[in-house]
Amino acid sequence: MSAIRPAAVVVLAAGEGTRMKSATPKVLHQICGRSLVGHVLATARELNPLDLVVVVGHAREQVTAHLGELDPQARTAVQEQQNGTGHAVRMAVEELGGAVDGTVVVVCGDTPLLTGETLRQLTAAHHADGNAVTVLTAEVPDATGYGRIVRDGVSGAVTAIVEHKDADESQRAIREINSGVFAFDGPLLADALGKLRTDNSQGEEYLTDVLGILREAGHRVGASVAGDHREIAGINNRVQLAQARRVLNDRLLERAMLAGVTVVDPATTWVDVTVSFERDAVVHPGTELHGSTLIGEGAEVGPRTRLTDTTVGAGARVDTTIAEGAQIGPETNVGPFAYLRPGTRLGPKAKVGTYVETKNAAIGEGTKVPHLSYVGDATIGEYTNIGAASVFVNYDGQDKHHTSVGSHCRTGADNMFVAPVTVGDGAYTAAGSVITKDVPPGSLAVARGQQRNIEGWVARKRPGSAAAKAAEAASGPGGSED
Ligand code: UD1
Ligand code: MG
Repeated sequence: MSAIRPAAVVVLAAGEGTRMKSATPKVLHQICGRSLVGHVLATARELNPLDLVVVVGHAREQVTAHLGELDPQARTAVQEQQNGTGHAVRMAVEELGGAVDGTVVVVCGDTPLLTGETLRQLTAAHHADGNAVTVLTAEVPDATGYGRIVRDGVSGAVTAIVEHKDADESQRAIREINSGVFAFDGPLLADALGKLRTDNSQGEEYLTDVLGILREAGHRVGASVAGDHREIAGINNRVQLAQARRVLNDRLLERAMLAGVTVVDPATTWVDVTVSFERDAVVHPGTELHGSTLIGEGAEVGPRTRLTDTTVGAGARVDTTIAEGAQIGPETNVGPFAYLRPGTRLGPKAKVGTYVETKNAAIGEGTKVPHLSYVGDATIGEYTNIGAASVFVNYDGQDKHHTSVGSHCRTGADNMFVAPVTVGDGAYTAAGSVITKDVPPGSLAVARGQQRNIEGWVARKRPGSAAAKAAEAASGPGGSED
């Protein structure tokens, strides 16, 4: 089917969404890393409309600010009072300067699962049939609350949409429902909107009445049936929000799997729409991937891992880790139990091991920070080993300072690097050292108290204790009195 460029897409987002029981306006609730209205806008943009208008009303400052960040080209039309979907579209048409030449597509701001493909089918059918209006419909298992599509018994042509609250018993038995998505002929829409009345059970201007008005005036009215009814589900409460998240997440994972990604347990793997994968990536159970995260070719992430805006290089392994704003090099090993904070850049074949936290740290190729350490505000060269339980002491209570450790260094366990400080290439540091002065390349730095053994102290100061007895036994035959 040929793609037809609409003159305008109108997104209805003025309603409050009372059933969400939330301080946040309904359309700003998120699934898979994007607001509900953000999903709808992304889908609408796939039609490449000349104009895009979002009708805002409830909490409009908040919604408008969000739209400004999301899609600065989108226009907004204010609907001061929510007098119905027909009234909302009338406000949008006014914003567009009156009757629009060409096709006007109307969608609701709370249907995040709608796809561009379905919208394209709708506009293509609208043009092919030469309709004044084409409504997107679907057969649903439970039609409660929806507007019902009434068809002529003989021709099967759509004759009207009747709202649930206004429907009689036989109409309520109809399972084909109005999705709330329409394609209109612009001038005929503008004309019909002026004729809407409010003599219905909700005292509102119904957009759905435009259909009957146009039909009575002798214009063609049609319907396009959505293939998957789940696509048109509107979100009205948090149960539906969770269901929609599940559906969208499954859709994203399915796309990834068909593109060559192994997802071991789709039920416990959650991804944002903005996440990308390369071939043969493997995602283990209990993993959440957010933002601009990219999993490189053959890399394995999880189980129990949450990555946000993080790049994982090809062949890397990331287990039981939380990372945000981090770059993990190819074939690098992270975790289990690592925490990579923003500004972490790990080179190829590096290792950040168990109970290690990093922040604003560049760690070179082949360098290892295997155990129980904090590396903050640091640069570490290549093929260096940082001993267990080391802390890069970056904060003097007022300012943060930087530490540099060179390449091929071996720093001892339990070191404190008190920044600013530099350890030269090929240097060693002794275990338990507090490094406060620069270490020249190739030197061994020892910065700890000398050990002193006071012999016989336990026997004198803790006579008769278990320790004293153990010491006595250990001191051999000469030490025994029996
Ligand atoms: C509407 C349709 C119904 C359809 C259903 C699909 C009408 C009269 N009814 O009913 O046939 O089956 O959607 O989900 O059109 N809105 C405004 N301003 C208003 C009223 C609503 O912007 O004055 C927006 C809402 O924010 C929402 C959308 O329009 O995004 C639909 O409104 P809603 O109140 O949910 O309509 P329904 O009763 O669900
Ligand atoms: Mg609704």
